[in-house]
Amino acid sequence: MEIKKIAVLGAGQMGNGIAHVCAQAGYEVKMRDIEQRFLDKGMATIKKNLERGLKKGKTTEEEIEATLGRIDGVLDLEEAVKEADLVIEAIPEVVQLKLDTWKEVDGLAPPHAILASNTSSISITQMAAVTNRPEKFIGMHFFNPVPVMRLVEIIKGQATADETVEVIRRVSERLGKQTVLVNEAPGFAVNRLLVPAINEAIFAVQEGVATVEDMDLAIKLGLNWPMGPLTLADFVGLDTLLYISDYFVDEFKDSKYRAPALLRKMVRAGWLGRKAGRGFYDYSGDEPKPMRF
Ligand code: CAA
Repeated sequence: MEIKKIAVLGAGQMGNGIAHVCAQAGYEVKMRDIEQRFLDKGMATIKKNLERGLKKGKTTEEEIEATLGRIDGVLDLEEAVKEADLVIEAIPEVVQLKLDTWKEVDGLAPPHAILASNTSSISITQMAAVTNRPEKFIGMHFFNPVPVMRLVEIIKGQATADETVEVIRRVSERLGKQTVLVNEAPGFAVNRLLVPAINEAIFAVQEGVATVEDMDLAIKLGLNWPMGPLTLADFVGLDTLLYISDYFVDEFKDSKYRAPALLRKMVRAGWLGRKAGRGFYDYSGDEPKPMRF
């Protein structure tokens, strides 16, 4: 089966990154969101990120125009998916919203289309079960920033066919990504490790072991991480981290995954990280300023 047309649901942080790499690889892309302002913001981000390569001579104005020309922003779900060979969903991590969307998409997309979710934690099997094509349902987990990060985790649900895995492996490779195949389990491979690691850094700050900036510096220089864990927490979004931690506790029934009280308090205060202008750092000035707890 050859994939030519891709529908990306959601023009947010992950959705616009996925649309960007798909269009750059030559696919015809429909990027769908529920309001024009989200589409406009997504398209502006794609343009800005594509232009990063201009000054360095890694891309040309013509290539950027061609890539942007392959992305069609749409509001109507039917228009987005009716001719798609592959639908990649990157909408908010709300179980009922995902289930309702997939039920609708299943009725609108052509029967041959593969349905892939970019969820970072929700069960692929549960989403597949609301469609009439669970063998064509799969997890395709990208990492932020999508144009830079080289991994796609491919997640096989209970009913996913081997052929579906192979098609998604080929598409991911065409996007310039390497893949790992993961059988469905909460957090798959990466977040199973990442989320407890970030939480441990937050526990350490909460207990006064080190300041925010020293904890970050320790891990950045001591383990060669590109960003310290608290900077990364702000980058991923504290609401997302809390959601995944709570989901882990529910699914594994193991308190070792519990979220630190400080993380929960910050989310309740609306300090969600970079996107909210405040998290473990304050982003209102020229340089991020570490918070004191
Ligand atoms: N889009 C396109 N290109 C981008 C970009 C973006 N959003 N952000 C950075 N880049 C490019 C830059 O243009 C630059 O390109 P060149 O190498 O060609 O010069 C390169 O990436 C490096 O960027 P910078 O020099 O500006 O900055 P940096 O070296 O500090 O790198 C970073 C920035 C890539 C974000 C790096 O800090 C990093 O890798 N951080 C960790 C990110 C990470 O762990 N992501 C996973 C989060 S977990 C997740 O996503 C899954 C989940 O379910 C929670």
